[in-house]
Amino acid sequence: MGRFFLTTPINYVNDAPHIGHAYTTVNADALARWHRLAGDEVFFLTGTDEHGAKVAESAAEHGMEPRAWADLTAARFEEAWRGLDIAFDDFIRTSQPRHYRAVQAFLTRIYDNGYIDKGLYQGLYCVRCEDYYTEEELVEGNCPNHGTPVTYMEEENYFFRLDQFTEPLLEWYEQHPEAVRPASKRNEALGFIKGGLRPISITRASLRWGVPVPWDEGHVFYVWYDALVNYLTAIGYGTDEGRWAQWWPSVHHLIGKEILRFHCVWWPAMCMAAGIEPPANIFVHGWLLFGGEKLSKTMLQRLRRSAEEVQLTDVAPEVLTDDFGVDPIRYHLLRVPLGNDSEFSYDSIVARYNADLANNLGNLASRVATVVGSKCGGIGPPPDPASPLAPLAAAAVAEASAAWETFAPHEALAATWRLIGAANAHLEATEPWKLAPGDELEGVLGSALETLRIVALLVSPAMPASARELWRRIGLPGVPEDRRVPTDAAWGGYPGGLPVVKGEPLFPRRRA
Ligand code: ME8
Ligand code: MG
Repeated sequence: MGRFFLTTPINYVNDAPHIGHAYTTVNADALARWHRLAGDEVFFLTGTDEHGAKVAESAAEHGMEPRAWADLTAARFEEAWRGLDIAFDDFIRTSQPRHYRAVQAFLTRIYDNGYIDKGLYQGLYCVRCEDYYTEEELVEGNCPNHGTPVTYMEEENYFFRLDQFTEPLLEWYEQHPEAVRPASKRNEALGFIKGGLRPISITRASLRWGVPVPWDEGHVFYVWYDALVNYLTAIGYGTDEGRWAQWWPSVHHLIGKEILRFHCVWWPAMCMAAGIEPPANIFVHGWLLFGGEKLSKTMLQRLRRSAEEVQLTDVAPEVLTDDFGVDPIRYHLLRVPLGNDSEFSYDSIVARYNADLANNLGNLASRVATVVGSKCGGIGPPPDPASPLAPLAAAAVAEASAAWETFAPHEALAATWRLIGAANAHLEATEPWKLAPGDELEGVLGSALETLRIVALLVSPAMPASARELWRRIGLPGVPEDRRVPTDAAWGGYPGGLPVVKGEPLFPRRRA
């Protein structure tokens, strides 16, 4: 048992959440739930990134003050996460006073340590990325991330001397080979560092919507320079040293690949400059693609303008959860490997839903309940200690545990589904519906119930409500989340003698 501090990127409040944001947050939620199940003390942080030019511009477009617009949009994120059954421990908003205090304390340390000085920024900037680019990085003269024009910026600002951290960063990477995962992303970060680091402009005199710079009232901090600090704010940096020291630096940052440079280059350097340890773990995942393109707010805005409303419904989280249910959407997002890019489509959700949920898990649950009803008067018998499913269940528990530990929810679920498949195959082979009353019938049904109990534990991080329902239907008291894995997932935990209810199909089959 240990501590597990997990973060998601804090989302910009320039527009509503979409399924790409949900992808990260659902994966993080399942990881956090797994660690709670494993007995760890968990702190799962998510929230919103509210300052900067992009948010100020979208507020102006809606005829609102930035703060009022941020309130409105942050609430939409919070609502979307509640709708997806995201059990965060804290929802941080960068417009909160606690964040201003932490940012000012952290950046004053860096200033006092001599890593911030004044200079003139001249160069290209993409407001949608809130990021700087060189001529060479542009694609056909446009932002490489958004394909939209960049702007030329010239302003006297404060600079963070990132250039002084090339050697310390290389050394840190050398000493912490597992800090950035997967290895391909670690190499990408090393490439940025070896490619040469320049001072970065970290304040704005032209903007009011930001955290004020304590040593110069005419400036606010550049949005990325305040946003990254959220990970410290939430654990009490500058206000509660004891709490902060419990959680830092053994944090896990889960992020999308487009913000790798901020998290894997800037952030460790900022921590070093402030005299604290860099974050222990950064896990970088790929994008959900829609027609080969990154699913993004920019894309949604374009779809709205061109009235392609049909496609829009494919990417709004609440439209999908209304259609399929919360757990099936969570399940679908968790089966997309956390690694490379993946095409996202409505048809693939339907196909996976039917194959894995309706035909496999749902079918197992309903078959077992039906036969227990017809052959055992609805009372579940105890499992057979020598069932061939016993070693398969133990293997699934071990494989799922190992997969969750390495940030591979898709593999954890694949292992669980191998067990479900084996249990269905065992029913086909033994045909309990044809067996006469007796030990064999009881052993087969009890073992199927025991498999369902273990499956409920293993799927509970992914599909918490369905796991609770399955648990209830096989007559178990309490909820799976209150159990501990692996202890409670050992074969033989189903006591028998409990009422088994069939109920409506857990996952009714869908037409393609
Ligand atoms: O970048 N596929 O916020 P953001 C997969 N405020 N993940 C996706 C995705 C897609 N198509 N689209 C978005 C910001 N994401 C900053 C972060 S952190 C200190 C500040 C996910 O609202 C992915 O996790 O643009 C990505 O990194 C994040 O949403 C970006 O959200
Ligand atoms: Mg973005």
